[in-house]
Amino acid sequence: MTAVKVGLIGYGTVGSAVGRTIRSHQENLQTVFGKEVQVAGVLVRDKQKYEQQVKDTLLTDNVEEFFAITDLDIIIEASVGIEPAYSYLKKAISSGCHIITANKEMIASKGADLKELAKEKGVRLEYEAAVAGGVPVIGTLKQLLHINHVVKVEAILNGTSNFILSEMSDKNIPFEEALQLAQEAGFAEADPANDVDGWDAFYKLMVLSDLLFEAQPDWEKVTRKGIRSVSFQDIHKAAEQGWKIKHVATLENTGGEVTVYVEPVVLSAAHPLYSVDGVDNAVCIEGNLVGKLKLQGPGAGALPTASAIVEDLANLVHQRKELSVKRQFQFTEKREAAPYMHLPSGQVVVQEKPAGENYYRVAGKTERLVAEA
Ligand SMILES: NC(=O)c1ccc[n+]([C@@H]2O[C@H](COP(=O)([O-])OP(=O)(O)OC[C@H]3O[C@@H](n4cnc5c(N)ncnc54)[C@H](OP(=O)(O)O)[C@@H]3O)[C@@H](O)[C@H]2O)c1
Repeated sequence: MTAVKVGLIGYGTVGSAVGRTIRSHQENLQTVFGKEVQVAGVLVRDKQKYEQQVKDTLLTDNVEEFFAITDLDIIIEASVGIEPAYSYLKKAISSGCHIITANKEMIASKGADLKELAKEKGVRLEYEAAVAGGVPVIGTLKQLLHINHVVKVEAILNGTSNFILSEMSDKNIPFEEALQLAQEAGFAEADPANDVDGWDAFYKLMVLSDLLFEAQPDWEKVTRKGIRSVSFQDIHKAAEQGWKIKHVATLENTGGEVTVYVEPVVLSAAHPLYSVDGVDNAVCIEGNLVGKLKLQGPGAGALPTASAIVEDLANLVHQRKELSVKRQFQFTEKREAAPYMHLPSGQVVVQEKPAGENYYRVAGKTERLVAEA
């Protein structure tokens, strides 16, 4: 009986955990596939770094050698950035491989093209790990899409930012100090820009937009703010009102008009994201039939991310009909200077916006705000 042959692109935190999980859960995978699942090759940029780790399969930094592996069935991609990952995956799909990727930046930028190509070639493209790591948000949304209209998604999609805001709040420390704690704990990169400037959450939100609407707004017109200028005075002032400041990615469809934004907002205790602290991610989904759901869990880390990937792997055995959304909608312009902030239960607080001030800084000015229903 021939094995299911898997090729891994990238063998860092995620790729190596996938390799280990395929070995440690071989019995379960064999039950699902009815045959052995074999890692037939690993492609990295610098193979010398991995020679101690990868001994029982082909390890290469030569892309031709990797694609020369005969009868590859599935490619799992866990490298970084748009290129060369996108070109490799196009090549893989064209040669009939199913694809599983964790690469959020690549799938946010090129997901639509890859989906089209995968459809044309009759192969599957799965990307659960790219949004909220181990939290099964893509699978849940795919299930919901059949009949429900998803009217709103509100999510904490970046564990690093959430950890920093939690530390600032719990320990009464400024952003820089909380960032340093995140770096010491291994929750933030040496260059944290991708996380704290909102890019990581933005990419994930674009992936969700693709999934829900088969389209994305113009990236230039989306409000994307990070957490660098949230002060602990803001956090303290919000806390005095019983509120917290959270970095939230929102996608809202109001009667066909879709607004998308990533920014710090003030939440009261009644909001389902209020209690999401530390490195956790959480996604609140509102469907017109199901009402409100909340998924919460580890948004990153080797094992949770590998879990999402091997679940995608196991799901490849099921024939899945991809449904087209066929909905009328249009994206609205960014609302850079929108003079309001979100509160629980859809309540909106209108701000007397002082010139030149970021709107989320209203946390320090709540007593001057007027609440509207
Ligand atoms: N870490 C997480 O918790 C997490 C969670 C969800 C999604 N993701 C996504 O998963 C992907 C991998 O993340 P990671 O944390 O595992 O990153 P990582 O530890 O930096 O590993 C990246 C791997 O990709 C390889 N690579 C980079 N450029 C390559 C190229 N041009 N050709 C072949 N291999 C290349 C690297 O090889 P060299 O070492 O030889 O350069 C390395 O093995 C990223 O897209 C990330 O956004 C990560």
